[in-house]
Amino acid sequence: MLLLRDIRTFYGNIEAVKGLNLRVDKGEIVCLIGSNGAGKSTALMTISGVLKPKTGSIIFNGEDIHGRPPHKIVARGVSQVPEGRRIFPKLTVMENLELGAYSVNSEQFTVNRRQSTVNSQLSTVFELFPVLKERHKQPGGTLSGGEQQMLAIGRALMSEPKLLLLDEPSLGLAPIIVGKIFKTIRELNADGLTILLVEQNAKAALRLAHRAYVLESGKVVKEGKGGDLLHEKEKKKAYLGE
Ligand SMILES: Nc1ncnc2c1ncn2[C@@H]1O[C@H](COP(=O)(O)OP(=O)(O)OP(=O)(O)O)[C@@H](O)[C@H]1O
Ligand SMILES: [Mg+2]
Repeated sequence: MLLLRDIRTFYGNIEAVKGLNLRVDKGEIVCLIGSNGAGKSTALMTISGVLKPKTGSIIFNGEDIHGRPPHKIVARGVSQVPEGRRIFPKLTVMENLELGAYSVNSEQFTVNRRQSTVNSQLSTVFELFPVLKERHKQPGGTLSGGEQQMLAIGRALMSEPKLLLLDEPSLGLAPIIVGKIFKTIRELNADGLTILLVEQNAKAALRLAHRAYVLESGKVVKEGKGGDLLHEKEKKKAYLGE
């Protein structure tokens, strides 16, 4: 579904992603792990078109999408939940969700079709996160951290993505909420959504992922099945105390 070949992304002179090769197959949960500054967020923002790579190609469903504007990439079926949630705090929960559906507002949709798509996505999101329905009139900024993460995921789902990019959804959340978010990721995947997940919580992420890539200084240093990498990590911990 997604294939990155030799992606290099710079901030000015700083090369943050240094020749990234990565693949996500339809139906998979693929996890990208690595320490602070490894280039994980940069990689996701390059896929979603927020950052333009200097070299390389990004093939999504057979089409090279690199260099396209973000809204065109959303319309193709790639939706990103950014690090730090970035919801609109002054807008209501409902307004935040409606903004996520903006790619549905293209000319290819008639008014009726647009409304029915928005309504069906809304009911999916409310079913997944009932608390968002209860709070739909409340400003996004008044939600708890966990609820804001749910809102950020809900907003990304409003555009009916085929591939969801999730950047550290567990960051700063209490363990019980992290558990709920991971459960949701598993359910979304079981319903057919393909997921590329960035996580610092490597253990939990590797348990969830079919495959994973370990990123270090903008490069893949290891890849494999989630379970294998988890096993390796635990062995290392037992012997070296890492
Ligand atoms: N706007 C920016 N301008 C300049 N350098 C940046 C910018 N954003 C990120 N970088 C640098 O690019 C590198 C990769 O950053 P990135 O945010 O992709 O890492 P990350 O793996 O997501 O880290 P974290 O786990 O802390 O979120 C880092 O060295 C960082 O300092
Ligand atoms: Mg990051």
